[in-house]
Amino acid sequence: MEASVDTQELEAKVKDMYRHVAEEPDGKYHFEMGRPLAARLGYPADVLDRIPEGAIESFAGVGYFFDLAELSEGESVVDLGSGSGMDVFFAALRVGSSGSVVGIDFTIEQLKKARRIAQETGFPQVELREGRIEKLPVPDASCDCVVSNGVINLAPDKEEVFAEAARVLRPGGRLAIADIVSEQQMKESIVCDADLWASCIGGAAQQDAYREAIEGAGLVIETIRENPYEFITDRARDASAKYGVKSVSLVARKD
Ligand SMILES: C[S@@+](CC[C@H](N)C(=O)[O-])C[C@H]1O[C@@H](n2cnc3c(N)ncnc32)[C@H](O)[C@@H]1O
Repeated sequence: MEASVDTQELEAKVKDMYRHVAEEPDGKYHFEMGRPLAARLGYPADVLDRIPEGAIESFAGVGYFFDLAELSEGESVVDLGSGSGMDVFFAALRVGSSGSVVGIDFTIEQLKKARRIAQETGFPQVELREGRIEKLPVPDASCDCVVSNGVINLAPDKEEVFAEAARVLRPGGRLAIADIVSEQQMKESIVCDADLWASCIGGAAQQDAYREAIEGAGLVIETIRENPYEFITDRARDASAKYGVKSVSLVARKD
């Protein structure tokens, strides 16, 4: 499932786009952002009320999955592509001060923003690490739950990402994510368009291949469901309608 996009161009576009998402959350993007999006996806209002506003304004996720993650006090969580940190803070409220949450991202401006918010608003159980989701700066079998929201579609080699998630999970640990997949394989002109890719469309894997990549990493999918997520520009909507590009949330367990 490795794709034929120019990976260097793609990485530069992704970093540029998510730098803007961190610094200019009111800008124009192919996707919705912020609290209205989070509320529509199913994030509970009473928890959103306890998450720092700066993290919510740059939220660019695609689904809700914390009901599937079933986090408990004291657990350790790793967030792949943590952005400005909304899910990191959400997870931190669930695991409490005896737990830990590590957010990993490769866009410096996103990390800086999330770090500043964690320090200013008192989340000592949160740590933000610079890194790639294809090579996590996290030890083997060291966490209870890996979460990720709207990120794995951006990775050219999804098998590598799921193998890393499986590596860092302890036996019995969960992968709980929301991501974009497609019903049909998209044509090359979309897959090779780094702009559409950076907007979470071009990199969407065909859904059967996506499931196989997860199960091939030794994770057993327990639940998968569709999310009320919509693209907002005409170009993104057209590609989405033509190929059945959609958001799903799922939980999978490491045996
Ligand atoms: C669509 S945003 C989602 C951010 C966050 N999960 C949220 O819900 O707001 C994608 C994030 O993943 C990061 N990202 C994309 N590809 C990555 C990679 N290969 N390694 C690390 N971070 C990556 C981007 O920098 C960006 O912050």
